[in-house]
Amino acid sequence: MPENIHPIFKKLAGRQEKQALLNQKSKVIWLTGLSGSGKSTLALGVEQRLFEEGFLTEVLDGDNIRSGINNNLGFSLEDRYENIRRISEVAKLFLNSGVISIAAFISPTREIRQMAKSIIGEEDFIEVYMSAPLEVCESRDVKGLYKKARKGEIKGFTGIDSPYEPPVDPDLILDTTNENIPDTIERVINYIRPLIKNES
Ligand code: ADX
Repeated sequence: MPENIHPIFKKLAGRQEKQALLNQKSKVIWLTGLSGSGKSTLALGVEQRLFEEGFLTEVLDGDNIRSGINNNLGFSLEDRYENIRRISEVAKLFLNSGVISIAAFISPTREIRQMAKSIIGEEDFIEVYMSAPLEVCESRDVKGLYKKARKGEIKGFTGIDSPYEPPVDPDLILDTTNENIPDTIERVINYIRPLIKNES
């Protein structure tokens, strides 16, 4: 490409212009919490509500990431780190395309989430802690994995024999133990709406 049109190309391809095209501001909503804490349910519910309000989003979670781009990764702390590193890079691509992404991953340690935050950028990273306690997640056991972990059939399961460190200063804390899902979704929507709305 000739050098003299490069700056124009760069300008047209910028995040600002894409956000303007989509009439929104992009952010990454990062859900962290134990397996069974409600991350995926919340992510889908938030996406649905945002869609109804005209926002373009993409949900990133185990179903589309661990079966695709990260299908070579397991659950050692090293693999989890690499899982989150790649997801953060993908989220950053969406961010730069003006798209709001909702990432739903255990992302178990402070170090892992700090890495995600530094790839994405502090000002665009909204940390949401799904704080349902282990007893509650385990009693739900939607996928039957806690039972297997207790029997030793899965090693290194988060909350059982692999660590989960709660965030120190999350933007939102949501406990799905008593609060119903629609109310929880509404809290997220009310928090993020001013951040993603295009004021111009
Ligand atoms: S993370 O730790 O790397 O962030 P991620 O959110 O992608 O984890 O995947 C978690 C999901 O993988 C769980 O909800 C569960 O269904 C499944 N899983 C399988 N093995 C494990 C394990 N050892 N620890 C936690 N989750 C596991």
